[in-house]
Order: sequence, then C-alpha cells, then structure tokens
Amino acid sequence: MELSSVKLGIIGTGNMGQAIIKGLLANEDRPEIYAYDVAEVNCRQVQKHFAGQVSVAGGNKELVKEVEVILLAVKPQVVGKVLEEIVDDLDPGQLLLSIAAGIPLKTIEAATAGKLPVVRIMPNTPALVQKGMSALAPGSLATRRHMDLAAEIFSRVGKTVEVNETLMDAVTAVSGSGPAYAFLVIEAMIDAAVKQGLPRDVARTLVVETFSGACALLQDTGQQPMVLKDMVTSPGGTTIAGLAALEEQGIRAAFFQAVEAACDRSRELGKMV
Ligand SMILES: NC(=O)c1ccc[n+]([C@@H]2O[C@H](COP(=O)([O-])OP(=O)(O)OC[C@H]3O[C@@H](n4cnc5c(N)ncnc54)[C@H](OP(=O)(O)O)[C@@H]3O)[C@@H](O)[C@H]2O)c1
Repeated sequence: MELSSVKLGIIGTGNMGQAIIKGLLANEDRPEIYAYDVAEVNCRQVQKHFAGQVSVAGGNKELVKEVEVILLAVKPQVVGKVLEEIVDDLDPGQLLLSIAAGIPLKTIEAATAGKLPVVRIMPNTPALVQKGMSALAPGSLATRRHMDLAAEIFSRVGKTVEVNETLMDAVTAVSGSGPAYAFLVIEAMIDAAVKQGLPRDVARTLVVETFSGACALLQDTGQQPMVLKDMVTSPGGTTIAGLAALEEQGIRAAFFQAVEAACDRSRELGKMV
C-alpha cells in the first residue's frame, strides 16, 4: 500500500512520535506528515530535525482538520484529555491509531463516540532505530484496508503482526517489555566475561555481536532455536556445560515467571485507566 497519498497527523512528538517520523521519512514513499506537541521543545526539535518535511500544526484541533490518519503518541494518562479536545473535529472517513500502552480499544471508541475506526498498536523501543516490533489490534469499525494502512505505517519502524486485542497484555509482556529482558541478559553476560578477565569493551563487542548474530541466524534460516542450539552443543563439550549451569539456575522458569508477571501487571494497569 502506498503512503504518498495519505495525510498523517501525529499528536505527541516525544520518543515514539519522533521515531515514527524518522522511519517514515527514511522512505521515498511517505505520507504528508503533520505533527503537534504541547511541549514547545519537541515542536522545535521536529522543525529542526525534519526541516521542510513535517508541518507543525498550531494545535491538536488544527492538526485533526488537516489529516485522514491520526496517530495518538501521547502518554496513556493524557489520551482522555486529547480525545476530549478533538472529538468534535473527528469524522468517519478518518482513521485513529493509538500506541498508548494499556488503553483498551473500547475506551478510545467510547471517548470518540464510535465516530471513526480505531487501531490499537503496541510498538517497542527498537522502533527508535527502525528495528521495532509492533502488534496491531483492530477496533470494532476497522476494516482490512485500515489494518493494511496501519501496518504499512508501522512497517517503516520495524516488523508488524496482527493480534486480537485480548492478546495485547501478552504482547506487552513479550515484545513491549522484552528489550529490557534482553538488556539484562546481555549486561549479565558482559559482567561474566569481565570476571573471566576480558576487558569490558571487548566483552561488550563479543556479547552484543553474539546475540545479534544468533538472531540473524534464526531469521535467515527460519529454524527453531532448539535446532540451532543443538548445532553448537557437542557431547561432553563446553556449551552443554554452560547450558547445564543455566538450567540448574532455573533460567526457563525465570522467563516463564517474568512474562507472566508482566502480563498480570499489564492487565492490572489496563483496569486502572
Ligand atoms: N517509548 C516506548 O518504548 C513505548 C513503547 C510502546 C508504547 N509506547 C507508548 O507511546 C506513547 C508515547 O510514549 P513516548 O515514550 O513517546 O512518550 P513521550 O516521549 O513522553 O512523548 C509524548 C509527548 O506528548 C506530549 N503531550 C502531552 N500532552 C499532549 C497534548 N495534550 N497534545 C499533544 N502532545 C502532548 C508530551 O509533552 P509533555 O512531555 O510536555 O507532557 C510529550 O512530548 C505512550 O502512550 C506509550 O505508552 C511507548
């Protein structure tokens, strides 16, 4: 789907808003982008970094009147206030995208009086370097065309999958929180390497490239992790000794518990909004 005929308005140009703008502008087929942020510093940044490529609107209402697709990229606690401000200017021909963590589609649909289709999206921080993973869930009025348009926009900052909204808490626990789990494991392995005498900068390179290479191998071969793990695990060798130590420390159980705890917390937070 081509984006060049689409007018996209981004409300909130903080981390995510600017990451999405950057990803969209990296491609020749790009929408006409409008943006607004209450923080003047962010509006100035957008004007500086994306000079001549993004129109900074005078306010949320003004922005909504210009565009067909509206992307809500403000913090979850501000979503209600923004929707209240723009609801009268919304029309059924528009599409509303929300990346606000934990805000259910029914809350957004109620706040917009069911006027327009809504798609809820859960991106993650690697979107900042166009390596994000975004899960998209359709609202009650979203059609195939709306989902394709939303997926096209988010494909510019990484990969996308479609899920039913009931799975958004699990998505949040896996790909939303997942970068933090990866950073923790990587940090631990760097410290372990330093303990064995490797200089920290060398340890960092070894560990980061090992994880990056392992992910590339998984992606390129399409193999299950188990198959690739078996390839480097010779009988009585070093790798099985290391793996056995990790199993003794309950590494699998730790990940099961981490994902379950994050999923439970996401459900709890969803009830609070
Ligand atoms: N960062 C992530 O990794 C991540 C991952 C998944 C989902 N998300 C979701 O993405 C959304 C944005 O996150 P972020 O990290 O980009 O937040 P952020 O950096 O704080 O950006 C949000 C921006 O919106 C501005 N804003 C506040 N009220 C506004 C209003 N009424 N109209 C227009 N702009 C307004 C904020 O200004 P002030 O600072 O002055 O309030 C801020 O500049 C959140 O809902 C979050 O749940 C983020």
